[in-house]
Amino acid sequence: MINDNKVAAGENAGTGSSGHTATPMIRMSNVKKSFGDKHILRGIDLEVKKGESLVVIGGSGTGKSVLLKNILGILEPDEGTIEVDGHVTTHMRGRARVELMHKFGMLFQGAALFDSLPVWENVAFGLIHGEKMSKGQAREIAVEKINAVGLSAQRVADLYPAELSGGMQKRVGLARAIATSPEIIFFDEPTTGLDPIMADVINDLIVESVKGLGATALSITHDMASARKIADKIAMIYEGEIIWCGDIKDLDNSGNPYVEQFIHGRAEGPISKHSDFAKSAKSKA
Ligand SMILES: Nc1ncnc2c1ncn2[C@@H]1O[C@H](COP(=O)(O)OP(=O)(O)OP(=O)(O)O)[C@@H](O)[C@H]1O
Ligand SMILES: [Mg+2]
Repeated sequence: MINDNKVAAGENAGTGSSGHTATPMIRMSNVKKSFGDKHILRGIDLEVKKGESLVVIGGSGTGKSVLLKNILGILEPDEGTIEVDGHVTTHMRGRARVELMHKFGMLFQGAALFDSLPVWENVAFGLIHGEKMSKGQAREIAVEKINAVGLSAQRVADLYPAELSGGMQKRVGLARAIATSPEIIFFDEPTTGLDPIMADVINDLIVESVKGLGATALSITHDMASARKIADKIAMIYEGEIIWCGDIKDLDNSGNPYVEQFIHGRAEGPISKHSDFAKSAKSKA
């Protein structure tokens, strides 16, 4: 039944049979990942073009973070292929994986800052440890990035994460994600737990930073206001597959009952009442 409305991601992304379009920055083909008998990703097909901002939406526990972790190499797919900028990275290890990681910036779900390091060193972490930059030089860039996300470096650079509010921690996480000027940035739930105004500030910063760097962005969220603000394209994951993918302008006319239920947060609809999403939608109602 789901397949009636299924549109393979990338099918309408202009990369069809002509073969004249540029190599996508990220391509996942039939990616599967299970944990024991829990089949989380059941054949993910997804493409993100260079410079594009794709947002993956889907209920809690549907495998959104697992999807990102497979691209990053934190988890390895059981089946399928992942390509980054035309190179197969599925089972890449060692130096090649380390070099690949230089392309990525990441804002983790919950910011995930190092508690024992001051703010500036959190932001400078990739510069010092990945790019082997001197601490002095890395601090200069960190200060610039802290200011770029609307914080005063003078006031916060030497504080520790525990001394910051949640919104400030997210901003520091964002500064860390963009510090190395990555080609690809991942945002996992960038606005969760923030008040609507702070969430919107973060959305604007994401748009500014991504456009400023000319980066390709892949974000995950169940905050539809955020998705609408930061996405060029939207993909919805349900039961381990991408069941719809399209331009943000087409989201409200998707014609897909799963997408419609999700974007309107309705308790009633085709999404299983036993799914985590249905449960969380109900508890919020
Ligand atoms: N390392 C792991 N080992 C076993 N199970 C895992 C592991 N990582 C994730 N899972 C399971 O995979 C499923 C999907 O998890 P994931 O974190 O991707 O969800 P999500 O879509 O990001 O949810 P949320 O919106 O709540 O962040 C969950 O059932 C989770 O328990
Ligand atoms: Mg998650």
